Amino acid sequence: MTVAQEFTASQTSAADAVTTAGQLPPLRLPLPTAAFARCDRRESGCQKRAGEAASAPPQDESALAWYRWLAGHHLAVGVWRLQLDHLAVLLEPHCSPSAAVAAMRSIAVLYDSYSALLLYSGSCAPEAYSAVIRSRMKARHAAFSGTWAREYERISLLLAELGRGTDDRLKNAMRFNRLVHMSVGRRLVPNGKSLLRESGGVPGTTTDADRDRFDEFFLISREAVCRHVLAAVLVDRVTLVLDDIARVPLDIEYDNDAVRRFQTDVPSHLATLVGAVGTWKVL
Ligand code: HEM
Ligand SMILES: [Zn+2]
Repeated sequence: MTVAQEFTASQTSAADAVTTAGQLPPLRLPLPTAAFARCDRRESGCQKRAGEAASAPPQDESALAWYRWLAGHHLAVGVWRLQLDHLAVLLEPHCSPSAAVAAMRSIAVLYDSYSALLLYSGSCAPEAYSAVIRSRMKARHAAFSGTWAREYERISLLLAELGRGTDDRLKNAMRFNRLVHMSVGRRLVPNGKSLLRESGGVPGTTTDADRDRFDEFFLISREAVCRHVLAAVLVDRVTLVLDDIARVPLDIEYDNDAVRRFQTDVPSHLATLVGAVGTWKVL
């Protein structure tokens, strides 16, 4: 039996573990092109309506792999939503030079948080990735793809609108993010091919049905919530993730030294995310 077969056989049913342990409630937020719901925080006590709290991460290896994949993606969507707000400021026709510097810095800092989340999401063994995560995405759709993420698609659009007007700090954060993404991809999928490529698909041909499929798979529910509710949920989930990596730290042999070292900084980038959410919700 190969290691992968042994691993699969030892998980009596990976799908069962996935559905019984470490449940995460849906991430509720508006479409990236829609504004947050208006509310008066003091009168409505809106944060109490943040919904069901997420449960702590499970211990079982496959269930933990799934939990990290889902929680990491929820937080990445949150990060992208924050970045979109800063990009909107940057693209305002009368954005002052000092506001532009501040917005670009915030977007760069959030790219580092996204890089930390890539390492967290993809921190399982390659065998668990294949048995628990890739197989479930493939079962949902043969070409299942990260390019279907609505928020990320919009970020790419706004960054293209911004053109060459990005500073070095932001360029470096984006470059490092690509390196982390590729390193995670190479470790989890040795041939490096995404499901999209493997099934002969072409990036950039996303349909609304694909975008809905991504939301549905990752338990993302498009709802008219206010920004305080989203902020409360994000802080709650980052706290769970920080507890999780304090218990089972990220210590993976990546083929790139900078990526390997960055694992030590993951908790501090996630703590920074809590601060960024706090500032953003009162913008
Ligand atoms: C760890 C969590 C991951 C997240 C949050 C994520 C997210 C994304 C997103 C948003 C995109 C579209 C934008 C872009 O090109 O950056 C994308 C594209 C891509 N991802 Fe990931 N990804 C993850 C893991 C992986 C893994 C494990 C692989 C392994 C094959 C992979 C391979 C790719 C490839 C090759 C693309 C380019 C489009 C394509 O060729 O399909 N990603 N990913
Ligand atoms: Zn509110």
